[in-house]
Amino acid sequence: MGHRMANTVITNLPGTRDLLPQEIACWQMVEGRARRIFDQYGFLEIRTPIIEPTELFARGIGGDTDIVGKEMYTFTDQSERSVTLRPEATASVVRAYIQNTMYRGGGIAKLYYIGPMFRHEKKQKGRWRQFYQIGAEALGSDNPAVDAEMIEMALSLLSALGVKSKLLINSVGCRVCRPKYIEILRNALQQYLPHMCEDCRRRSATNSLRVFDCKVESCQPYIERLPVITDHLCAECSGHFSAVQGYLAEAGIDYEIVPRLVRGLDYYVRTAFEIVSGDLGAQNALVGGGRYDGLSEVLGGPPVQAIGFAMGLDRLVMVLPEEQSRTWQWKPELFLAFMGEPAFKRAREISRELRKQGYNCYLDFAGGSLKSQLRLANKLNAAHVLIIGEDELARERYTIKRLEDSQQWEVTIPELIGYLQSRTSEKSTG
Ligand code: HAM
Repeated sequence: MGHRMANTVITNLPGTRDLLPQEIACWQMVEGRARRIFDQYGFLEIRTPIIEPTELFARGIGGDTDIVGKEMYTFTDQSERSVTLRPEATASVVRAYIQNTMYRGGGIAKLYYIGPMFRHEKKQKGRWRQFYQIGAEALGSDNPAVDAEMIEMALSLLSALGVKSKLLINSVGCRVCRPKYIEILRNALQQYLPHMCEDCRRRSATNSLRVFDCKVESCQPYIERLPVITDHLCAECSGHFSAVQGYLAEAGIDYEIVPRLVRGLDYYVRTAFEIVSGDLGAQNALVGGGRYDGLSEVLGGPPVQAIGFAMGLDRLVMVLPEEQSRTWQWKPELFLAFMGEPAFKRAREISRELRKQGYNCYLDFAGGSLKSQLRLANKLNAAHVLIIGEDELARERYTIKRLEDSQQWEVTIPELIGYLQSRTSEKSTG
């Protein structure tokens, strides 16, 4: 009203969004649960840069993947360096692990992260270009019990949040058995290629396993007829895979083996898994993970065996049961209503004092009529209103009104603090 809009309004980029204060409570609740569960399993937080040298992902994730080939936010910065907004954090964590010689300490490095990732994907429900992941990585062991524990940890977070999900697992072999399988796959592909899409034809030559990433409808019948890696695992991989299954069974975890699950990143070996939700539609993966024993060497580090997963926070929030996803509103403990300039000054002093004592106070700087200030206090759901008028100022006694039962009485400031303290201790004991 009365504002002149001379300039066009600037809006956010497609695929990004603002998370507003009402929603944030839910995100913080999920993040808090995740941190607690990670702590129980001995995982410590790591924060790596959001921006990294492009080479890290090109080499780490693989040049022929959708992520590196089509989806990265890459640009040349002012130092003529090619940089990329991280599309995932596993490569970054491994880089940090190598760079900070974390392998020196011995034992398993257990790390977790929470933060934004960037992929220029086509818009779809459950897909953003800036999205958030909660991820965990365990570096320094190839023990199949670690694979099972990672999966158990991801599932326990989901179940703590009341989210129903399903675990899909596979083994994608290793440096020994995968090349042999890829030969078999490439041969089998020859007969179908004339009917398949251009991406499939290109991939069958450069990185045949990536054919399984194809989402083109008309390619699917051919993809279903291709040989699967689980029939071609070497003895070591096969033994590792059975052991993982044994440990899952021991933990009472149900799973389905999906032999065509290869995951969209090149670094995986042996265990690959996804946790899906029935409530998400086409983009149904809540969690993706797997083993990446060779990644450290690809990035110039020592041989390191490792496994991890990442959970899509945006998707997780979408499938939270209602009782977990309630929106939340900030409420002032005390709303200070004042009349006149001297009362305004006193209100500022009182709020300063109360904040020092740990209480949240709200002042309406618009300084309208008492009626309009009370209206705002109601709207904000304040617990109490303290009324500061000229009379009150002179007597150093103020009227306090408790909004839930409309009771009001007079207090001095020390009495007010005493009252608020007794309320807090009541709350924490009862
Ligand atoms: P990813 O499968 O690419 O794996 O992503 C993991 C999860 O991130 C997905 O299951 C999904 O929930 C979420 N996600 C991915 N892309 C989007 C998007 N555009 N919008 C919303 N959510 C999305 C990785 O990123 C690997 N770094 C996981 C890993 C960790 N493997 C080993 N360690």
